[in-house]
Amino acid sequence: MNHGELATSLLAWYDKSAREMPWRVGPAQRKAGIKPDPYRIWLSEVMLQQTTVAAVKKYFERFTSLWPTVNDLAAAPDDQVMGEWAGLGYYARARNLLKCARVVATDHGGIFPQDRKTLLSLPGIGPYTAASVASIAFDLPETVVDGNVERVMSRLHNVHDPLPLSKPQLTDLATRTTPKKRAGDYAQAIMDLGATICTPKSPACGICPWFAPCIARTKGTAAELPKKVAK
Ligand code: ADE
Repeated sequence: MNHGELATSLLAWYDKSAREMPWRVGPAQRKAGIKPDPYRIWLSEVMLQQTTVAAVKKYFERFTSLWPTVNDLAAAPDDQVMGEWAGLGYYARARNLLKCARVVATDHGGIFPQDRKTLLSLPGIGPYTAASVASIAFDLPETVVDGNVERVMSRLHNVHDPLPLSKPQLTDLATRTTPKKRAGDYAQAIMDLGATICTPKSPACGICPWFAPCIARTKGTAAELPKKVAK
């Protein structure tokens, strides 16, 4: 199966199996021309770093009801934002969140930049967040690489070299599979696949849209991948 066919089969699965999330614009809504709010995508992606979807939902609802726009968040007192963040952990993330909101409000007129490079220049936005906002919010063909994507790619291509050594190879494979069209749906689809089917333990290969092309599944090595360098 070539990269184009891989993307097509994953997107077909996402069309029927996409999880609902408070910030997500689902595949049917996107097809109807509804676009995601970049502020909500950015906020959710920052919260989702090192925190599960289930835990983030409540915080996301609270933040967006207190501060519906990036300008509202930018104008919020530091103490209040830090207080609302309590429980999510990693307080540097909250401080950078506020810094980023203020830069977007003052230097970008309250409009999130679209391209990955400008996004990367903002406080607290690293390669993962830049790619996720560019793809999910703006549908640009950027490749998101997180732990889910590394696991899925290592299995699909049966990569036995351990992480982090294999990271460049997995990133390259992930980049080649990212479609030019529907890149936002694709980014969310591969993360959903990693979270619900291609799980670290006991992956549900029997219901995976990539059952046929997955080399690790064929060889029976899926559950042991990705390998990691011994600490
Ligand atoms: N984990 C982090 N971001 C996500 C997203 N947009 N969809 C699903 N899982 C995620």
